[in-house]
Amino acid sequence: MSRTKEETLKILLRHQQHYISGQALCEQLGCSRTAIWKQINELRKEGYTIDSVQKKGYKLLAKPNKLIKEEIDLHLTTDTFGRHLIYYEEVPSTQKLAHHLAEDGAAEGTLVVADEQTDGRGRLGRAWHSPKGTGIWMSCILRPTLSLERIPQLTLIAAVSIVRAIKKISGVQCGIKWPNDILFNGKKLVGILTELQAEIESVRAVIIGMGINVNVDADAIPEALKPIATSLKMISGVRQSREQLIAAIMSEFEGLYHMYLEEGFSIIKQMWEAHALNIGQHIHARLANGDVIHGIAQGINDKGVLLLQDDQGETHHIYSADINL
Ligand code: BTN
Repeated sequence: MSRTKEETLKILLRHQQHYISGQALCEQLGCSRTAIWKQINELRKEGYTIDSVQKKGYKLLAKPNKLIKEEIDLHLTTDTFGRHLIYYEEVPSTQKLAHHLAEDGAAEGTLVVADEQTDGRGRLGRAWHSPKGTGIWMSCILRPTLSLERIPQLTLIAAVSIVRAIKKISGVQCGIKWPNDILFNGKKLVGILTELQAEIESVRAVIIGMGINVNVDADAIPEALKPIATSLKMISGVRQSREQLIAAIMSEFEGLYHMYLEEGFSIIKQMWEAHALNIGQHIHARLANGDVIHGIAQGINDKGVLLLQDDQGETHHIYSADINL
């Protein structure tokens, strides 16, 4: 989108409640009325419904059903997270793209967002259903100077950030299933995929992928996922602004990440525990090698590792697993 069109759209988005005169647009954008008219028509072609009334000016009446980068920008309150925003209407996977960008030196806080993923990836090599126009599919690049063993803590920070942002924007209070699934009434609302680019001892980049079912309707959820997946719209009964939610997540994530780097993991641990599901419950942990450990989830330790006491009383340190009741 050209710079003038982007700025025109931002002004219209800011003034959604009333008309803005052509004169005011010209002054703010430093261009002619003809140029404004051209941008308005371009935006109309892209699916924006813009009313124009003589002597009153222009008013945005409706937006196309796609994520609007300019609207995310308007809501952002961060210093760096999300400020370098790369947006695609369709992409195979934001995660893959973020990996390439990180290899090419993209800065910390760079965010790749897509309205649709055609090859979304989940944990353990699973596919991630990422339909058009309904979810948040995004990957954030971090460049922490942390030892490798502390990286899993970043997943927990992301989970707490998302839970807090969802509560702030929609009022919905969800919980976290270790390490990083966000659930409501036992159904999955959010998945987080943390991946690493590292040398033998040091971290080059961490890519945090977040998949959030925001406005997905019940009938659009694939049959196989219906018993286990939900969306914010299904829970709250209303469409939620994906743009506001992305901005709120970036704000929470940036704040908690810096607090963690400065003060360590203990406050994050408390926050995570306050939202944790399954602690004190009998669970099954399926490890990557296929082994299953049954026992009581005791909590997480200071590194974010799950402590699971098996039926013989032995405590296992679980670094990665699929957890089921
Ligand atoms: C999980 O298995 O629970 C993690 C799912 C992570 C999905 C997100 S959507 C944005 C990013 N791009 C991907 O391909 N995957 C992650």
